[in-house]
Amino acid sequence: MQEFVQEILISDAQIQQRVSELGAQISLDYAGKEILLLCILKGGVIFLADLAKSITVPLEMDFMAVSSYGSATHSSGVVKIVKDLEESIEGKHVLIVEDIIDTGLTLKYLIENLKQRQPASLKIVALFDKPDNRAVDILVDYSGFIIPNKFIVGYGLDYRQFYRNVPYIFVPNPEKDPRDR
Ligand code: PRP
Repeated sequence: MQEFVQEILISDAQIQQRVSELGAQISLDYAGKEILLLCILKGGVIFLADLAKSITVPLEMDFMAVSSYGSATHSSGVVKIVKDLEESIEGKHVLIVEDIIDTGLTLKYLIENLKQRQPASLKIVALFDKPDNRAVDILVDYSGFIIPNKFIVGYGLDYRQFYRNVPYIFVPNPEKDPRDR
């Protein structure tokens, strides 16, 4: 694993600190209200779990899974809902929980889709933001870290579907994946 980790970009402690700050800010902003945390699977799940623990207003959780129609058509912004919400969001204060915003196409689609369901409000919290790669404008209400345009893994972000459980953010060395041995 040591050789696979080319560079640690953000440590476990830095992430925990920032997640607590985001949770505190969200708790202030939503004082007197209830929140529906809408987690986008799979990458958002680790962030959701930590963030939820640092929010002090009443909250419920729901989950959506989306996929783009293959990388070739990703830039078209065509997104498919693989798993939809279980409950109506009408009249609710919805906060979308994303691990990372890259091109912004996933969120653009989700925002348009979710607005039609008439939530009381719709905001976004993203732990990692790669603004260099943006294809569409997205207003991110709460952003954790600005990330350079590098391929990163850990804290929900996968490398070939693995390593989401690594508690820090690292740049992998693809030639040294322990799973290839
Ligand atoms: C990642 C991430 C966002 C999306 C961001 O998910 O969790 O949902 O990509 O990219 P974009 O801004 O360019 O649209 P991914 O499709 O890798 O699925 P996963 O979370 O299940 O790994």
